[in-house]
Parts: sequence; C-alpha cells; structure tokens
Amino acid sequence: MTVRPPVAVIVVAAGSGTRLERNHPKAFVPVAGVSILERSLRGIPPVEQLVVVAPASHLDEAAVALAAAGRVGSIVSGGATRQSSVAAGLAALADDVQIVLVHDAARALTPASVFDRVIDEVLRSGHGVIPVLPVSDTIKRVDGTSVLETVDRADLAAVQTPQGFVRAELDRAYALADRDHTDDAGLVALAGGSVVTVAGDALSFKITTPADLRRAEHEVGEAMAAIRTGVGVDVHAYDAAEPLWLGGLYWPDEVGLSGHSDGDAMSHAICDALLSAAGLGDIGSRFGTDDPRFAGAHGDVFLRETVALVSGASFTVCNVAVQLIANTPRLGARRMELEAHLTELVGAPVSVSATTSDGLGFTGKGEGVAVIATALVQS
Ligand code: CTP
Ligand code: MG
Repeated sequence: MTVRPPVAVIVVAAGSGTRLERNHPKAFVPVAGVSILERSLRGIPPVEQLVVVAPASHLDEAAVALAAAGRVGSIVSGGATRQSSVAAGLAALADDVQIVLVHDAARALTPASVFDRVIDEVLRSGHGVIPVLPVSDTIKRVDGTSVLETVDRADLAAVQTPQGFVRAELDRAYALADRDHTDDAGLVALAGGSVVTVAGDALSFKITTPADLRRAEHEVGEAMAAIRTGVGVDVHAYDAAEPLWLGGLYWPDEVGLSGHSDGDAMSHAICDALLSAAGLGDIGSRFGTDDPRFAGAHGDVFLRETVALVSGASFTVCNVAVQLIANTPRLGARRMELEAHLTELVGAPVSVSATTSDGLGFTGKGEGVAVIATALVQS
C-alpha cells in the first residue's frame, strides 16, 4: 500500500453573510439546529490537518463548532475578502502538508465523496482540481436589459468547492496574486497552473440567500426522516447443564442459558432491535422454530441473517446499543472483545453495557438474564 502525502483542508468561514440577512456571521447561522460551520466540518473525511478560518470576533464559536463536529484543527482569523481569508489559512498549514483543499463553509451539505474525488484527482493528475456541475439554465450575454447572445451551455460548468491543489502551486499562486479572484482555481490558472474538473454534487450548493437556507433545512429534514430507531428485548432462563453463549461468544465456566437455539439472549435482542428499526417484524416471525437452519444455531447465524434482511430492505445500520441485566456473567474483562465481535457482525458500532437489578425480580433472584437492545438505521 502506498502512503498518501499529507492532506489539509482549509474551511473558509470568515464572511459576514450579507446576502443571508442575519445579524450574525453566516457560518454560525443554524440549519435545523446545527450551525453551517459544524455541518460543513462534519462532512469532511479524515485528513492530516484541518484549518478553520473564522471571523476574528467568533474564534471561540469556531472552536465550539469544531469540537461539536468531533474534529481537531487550527482556527485562524480571516480577512476582509475571501482571498485574504484563504491566505490566512495557507499561512497556518503545517510544513509537511503537500495537498491542500479549500472549501467554503457555506457549502454546508457537501458530501465526503466530493472531497475524496478531489483528493484522488490531485494525487493522480498533479493539477488543480475543481468540482463542477453542468449548467441547466439557458445562459445569455446581456448589456443592461439588452440581450447580446446566447452562450453555448455545453461550454459552461458551475464551479463548487472543495478545490484541491498541490500545496506548493497554491502557495505560489497566492504569492503572485495582485488582485481579487472569486475562486482559488482562477488564481492558480493565472499563475500558469492547469486545472481540471471532477463531478460536483447538487448537495454542495452554497447557502447564500434566505431561500438557500430554507433549501438546506429541507434537505436535512429529508435525511432525518430517513432515520429510524428500533428496540428489542430477550429473556432466557439459566440452565446449568448448558454452555453459555452470549453476544456470539462462548463463555467457559459460566452457567448457560436454555432456549430453542443456543439461548444467546444478547444476539437475539440485537436481531429484534434491528428488525424493529427496519419495520421487518421480529425474530420469531422471521426465523421460524421449525426452520432447520436455526435449530441450535449460534447468535452470529441470526445476526448475519438479520443484517442481510435489513440491508436487503435498503437500510444501513448506524449503531446498536445493548444492555445485559443479569447477575452473571460479569462482562467487565471481555466487554471490549464483545463489542469488537458484535461490531464486526453487525457492520456498525455496537456498544455493550451491563447492570444487575439489585436483587429484584427474576434477574435479581438469579433465575435468568434479560437483554435490551436499541438500533438506529438509515435508508
Ligand atoms: N469568506 C471568508 N472571508 C471573507 C469572505 C468570505 O472566509 N472575507 C468565506 C465565507 O465565510 C463563505 C465563503 O467564503 O464560507 C464563500 O463566500 P460567500 O458565500 O460570499 O459568503 P459571505 O461573503 O459571508 O456572504 P455575502 O457575500 O453574502 O456577504
Ligand atoms: Mg461574499
């Protein structure tokens, strides 16, 4: 495997957002409760350095957005123009950075795949790379209200960010710049560099006007509507004559559980939560007790089959949380192993916790175990 040279993303967020007509800088205007800056940071794939260029008056707010997005990065003050803000970001780059992407925070919903396409093409071609979309409107050249001519749409492309460059080339273009340009590729081209295109994405639209903000709210609302939660509970009685299987793992020297299969209440609760989230019924209705494939089957058989059903219904699993309510086994020493095993089976993070019921009820009296699971899926 070849090692990728270090990549940095500069997110310019220092504009005031005049056209959005709010009384604070655009990057801190919320879209469905999450700031434009935080949303744009969330969409950036892992890179070696992240630089946020923020208004000098809002450096603390930028740090909050960075932390809320779960990212680590440098924060610098921007300038009076976008170009001077990018220059401030360039000045903050680590010495070893070789590829730089410059991104407008205002393109808050840009998918990570666009960043990946740009990075891959800079690495492949060594040129400047811009994401573009075909122009769908008819475009005319005008002089005031007079129409001069129709411009051939086939020759035009609408340009987005992130724009990617070999760092040395962008540094050189900025050092040579003597006037303001609206994009970084324009500066690079002026300095003699070549620039090529990759496919942009409709979701990378720039939030400029109040109508754009409403569109972003709508897009986020649609994505939220596609998230579903599910719940599953399973209970099995202890059976000292059985080996213990729980969460797809074998637990030597522990009292086992009775059941039609191997009594793995944890795997079964997770299956129920996943099926419930996807609206696919439950383990009893999906895996009949008369189906010979499941007689005595271990939990991982049910889990793999369930995950296949869920993805067959066009859902992706976001995460699963599961809690064991029991006197034994104590999960402590094997919790990490259990989480890793279940995460591998489900194909999404599974977190495992445990509690006792303080001597109360069937779990407290040591008659059996209960397991409760929740799952989040996205279509
Ligand atoms: N930007 C910046 N520094 C500036 C001006 C703009 O970092 N001095 C950033 C904006 O924060 C934005 C991106 O450049 O993420 C694109 O600019 P634009 O959409 O024009 O944002 P604003 O300049 O903030 O908005 P407006 O032009 O309506 O005032
Ligand atoms: Mg502007």
